[in-house]
Amino acid sequence: MATIYRDADVNMGVLKGRRIGVIGYGNQGRAQALNLRDSGLAPMVGNRDDEYKDRATADGFAVRPIRAVADEADVILVLIPDEVQPEVYQEQIRPSLRRGDVLCFASGYNIYYQAIVPPEGVGAIMVAPRMIGRAVRQLYQEHLGFPCLVAAENDADGRFLQVALALAKAIGATRFGAFASSFREETVIDLFAEQMLWPGIIKLCLLYFEKLVAHGCDPEIVTTELHLSGEFVEIAKAMITHGFFGQLQLHSQTSQYGQLSRADRMAPPELLAQVDRAMEEVCSGRFHAEWVQEQKAGKPNMQRLWQQVLTHPLAQSEAKLESLRKIITRPHEPS
Ligand code: NAI
Repeated sequence: MATIYRDADVNMGVLKGRRIGVIGYGNQGRAQALNLRDSGLAPMVGNRDDEYKDRATADGFAVRPIRAVADEADVILVLIPDEVQPEVYQEQIRPSLRRGDVLCFASGYNIYYQAIVPPEGVGAIMVAPRMIGRAVRQLYQEHLGFPCLVAAENDADGRFLQVALALAKAIGATRFGAFASSFREETVIDLFAEQMLWPGIIKLCLLYFEKLVAHGCDPEIVTTELHLSGEFVEIAKAMITHGFFGQLQLHSQTSQYGQLSRADRMAPPELLAQVDRAMEEVCSGRFHAEWVQEQKAGKPNMQRLWQQVLTHPLAQSEAKLESLRKIITRPHEPS
């Protein structure tokens, strides 16, 4: 069983005298900076000149350039997209680092693939919410928590982990629980979901749509059945309250039998080979190398793939149901 840290396990004293800098004010940056501030800390915000800077200014932060905040802070939360972190780190953060400084990441990606290698004596910690930024803020305001993964590298005396836990508490995560993890584990769990689980779900949904339409069913009714009705969301919610398998009991006997008797058929050996392949690409860094190459080339494959999905009949069917979509989905959206 993983070690789970809760509020009572955390010593906030380790942040005393520390100057905290938040680099980036996007999904995570905004939520975490506001939560840190509401927890009585005084985070500085560093951001380039863009609309995110305006947002931070409107929220009452005296925003400064990234380099200036990195100079002054000794606990630096790197909350900009993973793809841009290595370059921004090299040019605007690395020159300011001193022994004892701590770099905090919300994902394990760049440390695991060694795209960022902090200098000797500088801590690398991870406080990775398993939650989108909007919900990180909303759950904090509702005095609820959210799960998060914490880790510290080169942390012989456990000092850096204590800083990670204090930050996790200040953003509200340990109200629920911070799980002791590692940069590797966070990266593998995240990327394997993105490259095996979700593509599998996307492909099955498209096959469901295509097959039913080919068999004379109305595309808009199928689209509504597939996801617009919100049943998908309700099933996922029921998994939380009743358990992954327990929620099946909320379905009819016919549905239960259909699901349980056909599940194994959906994982033939060819699929299992693809599951292994996805895991190998994540663990070996092969996917990371491919993605770095794709970005350097100006993302031509990404554009082609987007083009493909946006012209799929499911997207066209959704467009026809736009007004309905707005009504139906509103109750499920986090504000
Ligand atoms: P984001 O896309 O919302 O980041 C926007 C911010 O990055 C803005 O402040 C923008 O000014 C800055 N930025 C973008 N490009 C830049 C560049 N070239 N130079 C300098 N600043 C630049 O990022 P998000 O989604 O908040 O991700 C931040 C970290 O949090 C990542 O490590 C991500 O993996 C992690 N994470 C994100 C979650 C989410 O809610 N999206 C969930 C959990 C972790």
